Amino acid sequence: MIPNFQHKKILITAGPTYEPIDPVRFIGNRSTGKMGIAIADAFADRQADVTLVLGPTTNRPSNKNITTICVETADEMYTECLKYEANSNIIIMSAAVADYKMKTVADQKIKKTDETIQLELVKNVDVLFELGKIKTHQLLVGFALETENVLENAQAKLKKKNLDLIIANTTNQNGEGFGFDTNKISIVDKDNKIYNFELKQKQELAVDICNVIATYLNT
Ligand code: CTP
Repeated sequence: MIPNFQHKKILITAGPTYEPIDPVRFIGNRSTGKMGIAIADAFADRQADVTLVLGPTTNRPSNKNITTICVETADEMYTECLKYEANSNIIIMSAAVADYKMKTVADQKIKKTDETIQLELVKNVDVLFELGKIKTHQLLVGFALETENVLENAQAKLKKKNLDLIIANTTNQNGEGFGFDTNKISIVDKDNKIYNFELKQKQELAVDICNVIATYLNT
């Protein structure tokens, strides 16, 4: 049976974040936001009330009922998530948030003077970790992007960030993860139950993710 998420409010983050260095440069990553956007579409197509907090990408969801809030930095993403988390039934953080930002952003373009240059970086807010600390009734779902020990690292992240489910994926040249239209995921729950999925289109995986999440909702 196709699950229906009518009356469910879902908060989703997707895409990269850009952390400014100076007025013309930033620290970013290769995320396209496609996985999170596909999840947003899959839930909205099943009647959920979806808010998508989207980092810088030209990709957009197709379902017109989705409220898309465009942000650039991790701090902006956090501010927007805090506005919606309390009223959400399901929170899914798929954004590839930059782990570090500049200690001080230069207000003028940094000139090419010295042979080497050092940038001082400070840790960014971990949006998912912070939401895990304050969560009450919400089903909290995170992603784990790992290049080794995928399941072990994902299980550790699930515990550390107080999640209900974690979606583990990797990135390589076989069509998995960043930049591809396909991905290969495993979903792990708090009791270490593991759902494995084969390599497939991100849109198809988004439906698989919907179906698994539906079985964890109380009502
Ligand atoms: N995440 C977040 N805010 C951050 C970093 C990560 O909300 N500053 C979320 C991501 O959206 C994802 C999960 O945390 O759902 C895990 O992200 P990942 O990059 O795999 O792990 P990190 O926690 O950043 O740890 P590490 O980079 O050390 O593997």
